[in-house]
Amino acid sequence: MSANPDQVDTTSRVDPIHPVPSRLLDPAQCPTPYVSSFDQYKTMWKESVEQPEKFFGNLANELLTWSKPFETVRHGSFQEGDVAWFLEGELNACYNCVDRHALKNPNKVAIIHEGDEPDYVKKITYGELLQEVSKLANVLKARGVKKGDNVAIYMPMIPEAIVSLLACARIGAPHSVIFAGFSAESLRDRVVDASAKIVITADEGRRGGKNIATKRIVDDALKACDSVSNVLVYQRTGSEIPWTEGRDLWWHEEMAKARSYCAPERMNSEDPLFLLYTSGSTGTPKGVLHTTGGYLLGAAATVKYIFDYQENDIFACMADIGWVTGHSYIVYGPLTLGATTVLFESTPTYPTPARFWELIAKHKITQFYTAPTAIRALRRLGDQWVEGHDLSSLRVIGSVGEPINPEAWDWYNEKVGKGRCAVVDTYWQTETGSIIITPLPGAIATKPGSATFPFFGIDPVLLDPASGKELEGNGVTGVLAVRQPWPSMARTVYNNHSRFLDTYLKPYPGYYFTGDGASRDIDGYYWVRGRVDDVINVSGHRLSTSEIESALVLHHSVAEAAVIGGHDDLTGQCIHAFVTLKPNVEEAEGLEKELSLQVRKIIGPFATPKRIYLVSDHPKTRSGKIMRRILRKIVNAEHHELGDTSTLADPSIIPSLITKVHG
Ligand code: WT7
Repeated sequence: MSANPDQVDTTSRVDPIHPVPSRLLDPAQCPTPYVSSFDQYKTMWKESVEQPEKFFGNLANELLTWSKPFETVRHGSFQEGDVAWFLEGELNACYNCVDRHALKNPNKVAIIHEGDEPDYVKKITYGELLQEVSKLANVLKARGVKKGDNVAIYMPMIPEAIVSLLACARIGAPHSVIFAGFSAESLRDRVVDASAKIVITADEGRRGGKNIATKRIVDDALKACDSVSNVLVYQRTGSEIPWTEGRDLWWHEEMAKARSYCAPERMNSEDPLFLLYTSGSTGTPKGVLHTTGGYLLGAAATVKYIFDYQENDIFACMADIGWVTGHSYIVYGPLTLGATTVLFESTPTYPTPARFWELIAKHKITQFYTAPTAIRALRRLGDQWVEGHDLSSLRVIGSVGEPINPEAWDWYNEKVGKGRCAVVDTYWQTETGSIIITPLPGAIATKPGSATFPFFGIDPVLLDPASGKELEGNGVTGVLAVRQPWPSMARTVYNNHSRFLDTYLKPYPGYYFTGDGASRDIDGYYWVRGRVDDVINVSGHRLSTSEIESALVLHHSVAEAAVIGGHDDLTGQCIHAFVTLKPNVEEAEGLEKELSLQVRKIIGPFATPKRIYLVSDHPKTRSGKIMRRILRKIVNAEHHELGDTSTLADPSIIPSLITKVHG
């Protein structure tokens, strides 16, 4: 593995530094941030990594309500792969997110649902949320779901999706949310891997003015799933849908029968809270498993410190609930703190590219969190869409999912933040549970494109990819790893602990390996460059090249496929596929299109290749291994610097590949 050679090293460049906006530190204009100087950050960070027991013990008591106190804050190690936090402690995540706020402040709005159509807004109070969650918990129990049973959730961005996650947490049934953009086949694989008993879904979704055939996809997926006894269907659009008598149940009918209080299950801090499938460099997607106490603390602590959440703030994360960002920053983080969270059903451009800005002005949003790909797309559509909206409620604007290029950062800062908000470029992963490298609004001067410094409890290191040795000092580039466990890190891969160890803990013994390459510049700022493995990131969606290759070779005409990530100004990376056909197969017209559809069908529309090239052969080593590095260079127009090609079995194929790609 090597740090991505396609990326330019900027460790020695002088980057502009943006100080903390003075407005944030002026008590007449803003509530004082929890951390309001770099020195304070340094002191707190030092304590968090040198005395994690003290730091996180205190924080866990401050931010969470435990039904039984913990005694041992931290247990286990990366060497043993047995990390656990807050042993002996018991707490229920749903109680922490709902009950304790509902009991104190039942009329406070928990969820603002902004529907697909901008005139559709629904507000749900904590009191109402407690009733809905209780009812659904009772429905699940009545259908035989017990503590420890997995529940699959395949839902559009509607409040019932949040209710579903919380109801599962309430009864101790780990949820596995599958992003509603996944195909039937992807859904099936995930439901089968988790042996889910129940699937919660909706008749249809609504996005950008169109209906999405959610339930139909579930039906296709379940043709080959024995574990599922019931499908609970929320009626979102009321369209005609297929129905399997005995298996399918209407949400509204079941809820009408259910009692509106359900006692939360006592959960150990280390009991699983959820699984979330994510792509790795090899094989099938992994069910990343998060537990209760540590995960919830990470989600809440990051909302508090990184978004500087203050009472009465309106917190808006634009991610989908099907990804970890939605879990931590729509649901668990904000609700644990008793915040009002915004659930956005639509897209940034529906009905116009002003949608985000109208949303912010309408709800007086204080924290806004989105992805670089959305920022780039909106920037491209022109400033006129963002101008003229009252965005003065904003204090912190965040970015997540991929490196943000300085041009997009500047635009976000100037046009959206008006130079008076903190911009937080937050780096983390499904596996880290919550943000791990990030600025803090009141404390850290930012450099566009850098995620800056580690969050509390995170002790990052850069390793030499070959020797695994720590790279000391500043101005270095290597692979990014973490030296000691933190509360919200994943504990295992569902049913496959050895895969967890092999992927994260064994590559560099004693460290958690992120899979990303990064630099630490001369000022100690971290710059995450991108993956060093076979994972590609398209619009913040994480995809495995080998999964796309497998989808392609399932087509009857394909002999072999090689997929690589190319640069794309809008989506960050994009998918390029090089395909060879079986010997007896002719290059039929429209074959590329058919192959593209094949990938959409097997994985989902977001995995659609940008380009498919039918080639006579791949660049291979003498032992037959495809040299994807060469394809990457050709696609990214760096073929004048192909490097060492002497190991290629047949270097003469290179010119034809170049012609194929660049004409
Ligand atoms: C991968 C994790 C957890 C957030 C959503 C994605 C890339 C994420 C940043 C950032 C540079 C970033 C990394 C990481 N990534 N945020 N701020 N700067 N790269 O979660 O699907 O688990 O993907 O996203 O490559 O490994 P995910």
